[in-house]
Amino acid sequence: MKNITKIQLGKNGPLVSKLGLGCMRMSSIWGGPTPPETESIATIHEALDHGINFINTGDFYGAGHNEMLIGKAIKGRRDDAFISVKFGAIFHNGQWLGMDLRPMAIKNFINYSLTRLGVETIDLYQPSRMDNSVPLEDIIGTVADLVKEGKVRNIGVSEITADQLRKANDINPISALEIGYSLAERGIENDLLPVAKELGIGIVAFANTAEGLLTGEMKAPLEQNDYRNHFSRFQGENLIHNLEKVEVLKQLAAGKGCTPTQVAIAWVKEQGDLIMPLVSMSRRARLPENIAAMDIVFTPEEMNTLNTTFAIGAIHGGTYLQR
Ligand SMILES: NC(=O)c1ccc[n+]([C@@H]2O[C@H](COP(=O)([O-])OP(=O)(O)OC[C@H]3O[C@@H](n4cnc5c(N)ncnc54)[C@H](OP(=O)(O)O)[C@@H]3O)[C@@H](O)[C@H]2O)c1
Repeated sequence: MKNITKIQLGKNGPLVSKLGLGCMRMSSIWGGPTPPETESIATIHEALDHGINFINTGDFYGAGHNEMLIGKAIKGRRDDAFISVKFGAIFHNGQWLGMDLRPMAIKNFINYSLTRLGVETIDLYQPSRMDNSVPLEDIIGTVADLVKEGKVRNIGVSEITADQLRKANDINPISALEIGYSLAERGIENDLLPVAKELGIGIVAFANTAEGLLTGEMKAPLEQNDYRNHFSRFQGENLIHNLEKVEVLKQLAAGKGCTPTQVAIAWVKEQGDLIMPLVSMSRRARLPENIAAMDIVFTPEEMNTLNTTFAIGAIHGGTYLQR
């Protein structure tokens, strides 16, 4: 069994594995098929066996399916897992309708999540986005009340601005910031990342592969039925340009005897002690490769090649992560 390094989430916060397991793709979120449940559960078990205890979900992933799946997987081994749940996003028929962060709604959401997960307390609970119609004080204040009630252990936030992060942390100490961050998506380095580091907030970095762009497996054009066709990053000239950048990543990976995905994960991991790569893995076969990525280090030259090839703005077009 491999012992994954631990990181602390927030000042005096919990210790969790430096590699996190993202469970989103174990459920149908945009209306696609649900992957085989037995393999998803086996993946969670194997991740826990390897010391990957940070398990990430959202109550809206598959309209509760994801939480029920995790609930089944952690039955009998609750203490092995650190459960992180996002709430507030409202979906209908695979369409994102908006956010509901009214205190009354949050108090309702938590009870359903606890029941679906089959646990008494959620380790990290976080609004998945902010909602300007509800004051930040009320959102964070309501989650702080849930901490007092014993339903939540730590408070997190996701996809917020640097100013919002400071304000939220003033209201109640924030343990973790869940945010999209990769070689292809480095915008947070301008202001959000420095603020999180200054405040000692753990950074749970998702989309390390940038919707698969950095796996090195993508080809232009995408299949017609590929959902990523909706994102400008994967359309026409943008995709051709972006895949040229990925060629550099592929060469660098080949020179190190590893895969482009491993380099993409390792680059995130190398951005600091407070940063955790949160990687979607829906099948056991992903685990050995991604766990091994946590041991990859770069020479200054390699780091320079990555940082210049993938400088901010080098990747053209956006995804749903518009900030
Ligand atoms: N807070 C937010 O707004 C937000 C938004 C999106 C996601 N998240 C969280 O972050 C997690 C990760 O995000 P993500 O799914 O967008 O990004 P990701 O981790 O980059 O995953 C994207 C895809 O990469 C594949 N993959 C994993 N390891 C691979 C490997 N070694 N080689 C080739 N492909 C590999 C996964 O496939 P398989 O699934 O087939 O294994 C997955 O489909 C999610 O599960 C979710 O928990 C949070």
